[in-house]
Amino acid sequence: MLTASQLDTYRTDGYVLVSDVVAADDLAQVRQDVERLFTQDHPGRIMEKDGVTVRGIHGCHQVSTVFDRLTRLPGLLTAAEQILDGKVYVHQSKVNAKLALRGDVWPWHQDYIYWEREDGMSAPRALNIALFLDDATHFNGPLLFLPGSHLLGTVSTAARNPGHGWQANLVADLRYQLTPEQLAPLAADMGMRAATGSAGTLLFFDPRLIHGSGTNMSPVNRRLLLITYNSVENTLVPVAEPRPEFLAARDNTPLAVWDAGLDASCR
Ligand code: SIN
Ligand code: MN
Repeated sequence: MLTASQLDTYRTDGYVLVSDVVAADDLAQVRQDVERLFTQDHPGRIMEKDGVTVRGIHGCHQVSTVFDRLTRLPGLLTAAEQILDGKVYVHQSKVNAKLALRGDVWPWHQDYIYWEREDGMSAPRALNIALFLDDATHFNGPLLFLPGSHLLGTVSTAARNPGHGWQANLVADLRYQLTPEQLAPLAADMGMRAATGSAGTLLFFDPRLIHGSGTNMSPVNRRLLLITYNSVENTLVPVAEPRPEFLAARDNTPLAVWDAGLDASCR
């Protein structure tokens, strides 16, 4: 559970950093599993522009026991239920690689606009929990936020690359990104913050928070694991062209807590 002060920060700033939730053994298990998943061919594995560097892997909880258990660890699941006020399921899980010297940008955007317009999510009653798989520093492309921007609601942006399918949501030229004209006055008003911290840190952030990240100019990886929880009551309505299950899960069975650690060899 989050403390009252952590909840207050989440509600006011749109995000909160929390340390000492994921045990060192569990973090090691996840990192090992991510190495394995990076090498596996899967439609949800996306490359950077060079065509050979992994940019991200998607739908990990659907193919990995370690990931499935991670989404159900009490420290994550109970906090998600607390914030979303009831039972939850995983809408999406992924790892954004942002590998040393090659990891590319994520333009400024909000997440909810994708889920609303592309997946038929009815309300922003969802939440991202990110786990830092590496130390996130000012040099390796940390997530950047406009604090408090979740309170603006959805900032309307024109869709780029129409007709390019779901792939346009995952590449460096993101579909729903803020224009410089939209960003400048908001950044002047709200300021900018970088989400830095050591490997193992958890970052909770609101799906309407304006965020992005720069290139990784450092020789150190910045792998970020992200789980999007959605309220089981906030079901997706049918859409004309549903995205694949690994981007927008439609099974809203409530998650049950897993409290026996992540070791996939112990079942
Ligand atoms: C990033 O990995 O820097 C971007 C994550 C996101 O947009 O959710
Ligand atoms: Mn995002």
